[in-house]
Amino acid sequence: MAEQAVSTQSPITSNEKTSTPAGLDELIAQQEKIFVERQGESRRMAARADRALAGGVTSSWQITRPQPVWLSHGKGSKIYDVDGNEYVDLHGGYGAAMAGHGHPAVVEAVRGQAALGTHFAQPTPAAILVAEELTRRFGLPLWRFANSGTEATMDAVHLMRAITDRDLIIKVEGCYHGHHDSVQVSVAPEAEEVGPAHKPAQVPSSTGIPRAITDLTLVVGFNDLDGVARLLDEHPGKIAGMIVEPIMMNAGIILPEPGYLDGLKELLHSRGALLAFDEVKTGLTAGPSGATGATGVTPDIICLAKAIGGGVSVAAIGGTEEAMGHVSNGDYEMVGTFNGNPLAMAAARAMLCEVATPAAYERIDALRQQAVTGLEREIERNGLSAHVVAVGAKGCVVFSSEPVRDFRDFLGVDDSYSNAHWLYQHNGGVFLPPWGKSEQWLISVQHDEADIRRFTDNFAAFAAALRF
Ligand SMILES: Cc1ncc(COP(=O)(O)O)c(C=O)c1O
Repeated sequence: MAEQAVSTQSPITSNEKTSTPAGLDELIAQQEKIFVERQGESRRMAARADRALAGGVTSSWQITRPQPVWLSHGKGSKIYDVDGNEYVDLHGGYGAAMAGHGHPAVVEAVRGQAALGTHFAQPTPAAILVAEELTRRFGLPLWRFANSGTEATMDAVHLMRAITDRDLIIKVEGCYHGHHDSVQVSVAPEAEEVGPAHKPAQVPSSTGIPRAITDLTLVVGFNDLDGVARLLDEHPGKIAGMIVEPIMMNAGIILPEPGYLDGLKELLHSRGALLAFDEVKTGLTAGPSGATGATGVTPDIICLAKAIGGGVSVAAIGGTEEAMGHVSNGDYEMVGTFNGNPLAMAAARAMLCEVATPAAYERIDALRQQAVTGLEREIERNGLSAHVVAVGAKGCVVFSSEPVRDFRDFLGVDDSYSNAHWLYQHNGGVFLPPWGKSEQWLISVQHDEADIRRFTDNFAAFAAALRF
């Protein structure tokens, strides 16, 4: 299913979070200087935006050091900033731009639909095609649509509660499922906040989340089946279900251990509770049928968003006859003015039926292999304590010699190496997701070997620069 290789040499020794070597601080300062010097126009935009946009950006995660990067456009596998710098786009808009930019099939679908009307709040035929294709890929019979991953997971949580008439849910420490109240719990808690491993604290992940709601979300470690059993025992008949990323993708990439996902399904079902997979990130990127297809475990509910829209905002919630029956019979009203919006449906149809084809996955697999081989070669050659984890179109370098099994392991990984790596790649013309430690690269259907070479060449230079 996934490639995971662990290199064990020094000099970067992580997992026991130690102080960052002075050489690395210097490297970061030097790279930040280059970054800012290349982006005078972005700096001017940021100053102007500060007076019109709260925080000078359109989403708080766009506030990055040393300054936000303002983009002018994208084409194929590349994006361009307002200063005219070109980047191989491995950020992929946090994993949504798997079609690359300006893909002809998506452009034609969106242009065609725009001329025919962009909004009716009535269903259009493309919605049936998209639902049928999702059924073919994910094996769940009934679907509804929404606009973002947040809406999809919110509906999944509501639905689990509606079906079971229970209030408590379980979520995994370190998983991000969007910004609605029930899942804004223990998303990225600090080491001092997490509490004991056998009873993780329920840490609100934002201001504005009522304690009364946080209390309804029980927290457990990834890959911890015993922890789930314990929670089910402690709260008999009270737990509606569990939402989990089947492959964790907001803490680098953490793979499920053999038996974990089927074990969850069995355990939850044995207590009348449901299992929802958040495949917002993994959906099309972990393979043609996401982590569900890759692991062979089909949950009761699947949440999709990001890549399924070909770069247009769309989400989908799929479920078993039994689960979605509560939507069909009106017990749970799954609603939204823009749900099934014709523009979004046209883009999703093009993405699913014309872009994310078997040939595209073959091409992505070859490019992933090229990336993994190139990175591992440099890790070994430079004696870094780091390893690569890659699944489908996604992958990341974990700057630790130890495999990461859950969020607590991940907390121990020093993020300064990822930050330095991000800066280094950026200045070398490769746009990775900012900060680096939590996020992954995304290979789109439009990347080619030269793009991946630029990425691995930059990594080689970075790895060599770490020999302080
Ligand atoms: C796993 C996962 N679920 C849900 C979401 C929320 O999606 P959105 O940002 O579209 O609301 C994200 C966003 O990054 C995510 O990574």
